Amino acid sequence: MSRPQGVDTSVPSPARVYDHLLGGKDNYEVDRKVADGLLKIIPSMRLVARENRAFLGRAVRYLAGEAGIRQFLDIGTGLPTQDNVHDVAQRIEPAARVVYADNDPVVLVHARALLTSTPEGATDYVEADLREPDAILEHAAATLDFDEPVALLLVAILHFLPDEDGVHGIVARLVDRLAPGSYLVISHGTPEENPQGASDAAEEYTRQAPSAQITPRNRDAINGFFTGLEPVDPGLGYITSWRPEGPVVPPEQVGLYGGVARKP
Ligand SMILES: C[S@@+](CC[C@H](N)C(=O)[O-])C[C@H]1O[C@@H](n2cnc3c(N)ncnc32)[C@H](O)[C@@H]1O
Repeated sequence: MSRPQGVDTSVPSPARVYDHLLGGKDNYEVDRKVADGLLKIIPSMRLVARENRAFLGRAVRYLAGEAGIRQFLDIGTGLPTQDNVHDVAQRIEPAARVVYADNDPVVLVHARALLTSTPEGATDYVEADLREPDAILEHAAATLDFDEPVALLLVAILHFLPDEDGVHGIVARLVDRLAPGSYLVISHGTPEENPQGASDAAEEYTRQAPSAQITPRNRDAINGFFTGLEPVDPGLGYITSWRPEGPVVPPEQVGLYGGVARKP
């Protein structure tokens, strides 16, 4: 692909590494090298990426359908792909409003594909860092009404933030701003089924992309993000077992926990 202005193609980008794992075309040699390194350690990594996307799709369908949610804030959006959040939500509720946020400039370059809303609904994109939650909330308030329920999506992003960034406090700050009846969706890498693989993969990622400090977390630490919220059945578990629609992939092949919870 051509090299867009303002995007550094000499260092790997987590959004592009993930795009490559999903079979996308918006990535470069440096990104594919990271993905190849990860695949050597965890051969099921492509499946992990696809299953994560499938979990996101099921969660958004549940929220837009059964839970009646009309507003979504998706932080750590990644590159546009099939079934972006607004595609899934607006298929069920055309008036759904979605704000996307990511800190990788490459996502902004492709953001036009995220801004294809239905006429009844709305989509917006902000280039912003999760470590500055107030800036994200302020921008999102132009599109979302925070007096009404919002689903906050933090899907496969929190493991990019080490504990030193105060990641639990950041999530609490965001949740605090949400109205009663809002939801939080999280998927997150865990070392529990494959401790050696998780630590080798995190090390390999950081070796090739020093700015990416991957922090897989255990169940208790991930549950901590949901403090004060009511879990939606079946609660926190491996992403593939959250309301599965087909045969369930065994946990040792996915290594990501996922859950959805409601703010009372
Ligand atoms: C693995 S992708 C997940 C994409 C999408 N949420 C999904 O699950 O399909 C992680 C995304 O989080 C973004 N990201 C990582 N750290 C971030 C931060 N501190 N602030 C905002 N975005 C971040 C990356 O740029 C990347 O696009």
